Amino acid sequence: METSNPRVNHYIDGPVRLFSLMAVVWGVVGMLVGVIIAAQLTWPELNLGIPWLSYGRLRPLHTNAVIFAFGGCALMATSLHVVQRTCQVPLFAPKLAWFVFWGWQAVIVLAAISLPLGFTSGKEYAELEWPIDILITLVWVSYAIVFFGTIGIRKVKHIYVANWFFGAFILAVALLHLVNSAAVPASLLRSYSAYAGVQDAMVQWWYGHNAVGFFLTAGFLGMMYYYVPKQAGRPIYSYRLSIVHFWALIFTYMWAGPHHLHYTALPDWAQSVGMVFSLILLAPSWGGMINGIMTLSGAWHKLRDDPILRFLIVSLSFYGMATFEGPMMSIKTVNALSHYTDWTVGHVHAGALGWVGLISMGSLYYLIPRLYGREKMYSTRAIELHFWIATIGIVLYIAAMWIAGVMQGMMWRAINDDGTLTYTFVESVKATFPFYVIRLLGGLLYLGGMLVMAWNVWKTVAAGRSVKAPIPQLVQA
Ligand code: HEM
Ligand code: HEM
Repeated sequence: METSNPRVNHYIDGPVRLFSLMAVVWGVVGMLVGVIIAAQLTWPELNLGIPWLSYGRLRPLHTNAVIFAFGGCALMATSLHVVQRTCQVPLFAPKLAWFVFWGWQAVIVLAAISLPLGFTSGKEYAELEWPIDILITLVWVSYAIVFFGTIGIRKVKHIYVANWFFGAFILAVALLHLVNSAAVPASLLRSYSAYAGVQDAMVQWWYGHNAVGFFLTAGFLGMMYYYVPKQAGRPIYSYRLSIVHFWALIFTYMWAGPHHLHYTALPDWAQSVGMVFSLILLAPSWGGMINGIMTLSGAWHKLRDDPILRFLIVSLSFYGMATFEGPMMSIKTVNALSHYTDWTVGHVHAGALGWVGLISMGSLYYLIPRLYGREKMYSTRAIELHFWIATIGIVLYIAAMWIAGVMQGMMWRAINDDGTLTYTFVESVKATFPFYVIRLLGGLLYLGGMLVMAWNVWKTVAAGRSVKAPIPQLVQA
């Protein structure tokens, strides 16, 4: 059994290995469910009249699977890999790290069972019922102990910036989960939120937006700060900028949540606070993106023949796109058009497929061969193929949703001279049909890319073996 004995002179990568592989497995599952619900929106009869397959139950299954199972496993794999390398010590409390792995898989399996059965707290991205919430809390606290414990026993004085981002992600998610999941249990599988009315909505979207900011952003920025310089073979563009980036981003995100509640019962001043902080958020987001992309300055040619680097850098372009679009959508008058339309769904997937998906895939392509004693993945051409079909898939998905969204918004607000509505709602649904077909095609391509990745990972693991990576001896100045 691997221990945290200081005399252990190799990194503890067992949990990192399994988290990496499960990220790929859950990626396939979560995206497959995404494709199924995209098909159901196009042809509703595809629910086959079976309650467990109904759209309302599969949608939260999709969001939970892609965010917490795919994204979560990728984040746990990379954070536990990066923290050891940048602190030059093995994991603190390895047995607890194994508990984090198995506990997190148990949470995922329980979600995959309870959501199709219809058990939900009704809070978006926090649908799981209270007994599962308690298990999440135990796993998360253990994760925090392993991560911060490893930082605590580090041999390198400095704490590398990637760890700041991973650390902020772990602490913020703990806080968000505890506050937003507060509920009064009514039975084993039913509970009622501890908050009511508009307070409940505000707590939910303080959670929801920070889930974007910390789960879907800060942790992945941790990946960026380690894997982009590694794959590019160059130091990060500006270390000073990374520190400004960190503090500005985490401070600003916390206040932007009310942009999800424009034109609701939330006091107007609170909506304006949300809008202003969202506009400010453009600056740190782009600061981070520029820091990542400019790491390549002087080495741009590497993009030509390194598909892994392309995954990492193109993910940053999508990050820039989503974090430009988000502040625009938070402007009240723009939101009056975009809210309730597929524009929001397009924005979400620019971030989710473009940023979260591509940066995870690029980081896993760097990580997996090294965990199995190989220099590179089994097939570089398969990575190349994956990159292109994923990118075309994203463009089809988000372009279709943008056009559909703006069209819906315009149709819903069009009025005749006598003040009556020009279009009925169902006319807007009919007009959306071709765009739903294009989105489905984009989703199928993206899922196809993920299947190519799964094959490539399988071949790489089969040809490799688990290696114990030695910890280099530090030469103290
Ligand atoms: C094959 C890839 C994917 C397909 C086909 C797909 C499809 C869909 C569909 C059809 C919806 C419901 C939209 C609606 O309610 O009108 C949805 C929602 C969502 N998906 Fe995906 N998805 C994919 C990948 C992903 C990934 C990788 C992530 C995150 C990392 C993600 C995150 C989300 C989120 C957060 C929502 C909720 C959006 C909202 O409430 O506005 N999806 N997806
Ligand atoms: C500067 C950064 C960002 C800002 C200011 C921002 C702003 C917004 C706004 C205004 C909405 C629409 C709210 C509504 O009308 O209901 C929204 C929705 C959303 N955004 Fe962003 N966004 C940003 C970045 C991102 C990124 C990078 C991602 C993904 C990785 C993302 C994921 C989402 C999700 C999942 C929703 C849908 C929430 C829901 O209704 O279920 N956002 N965002």
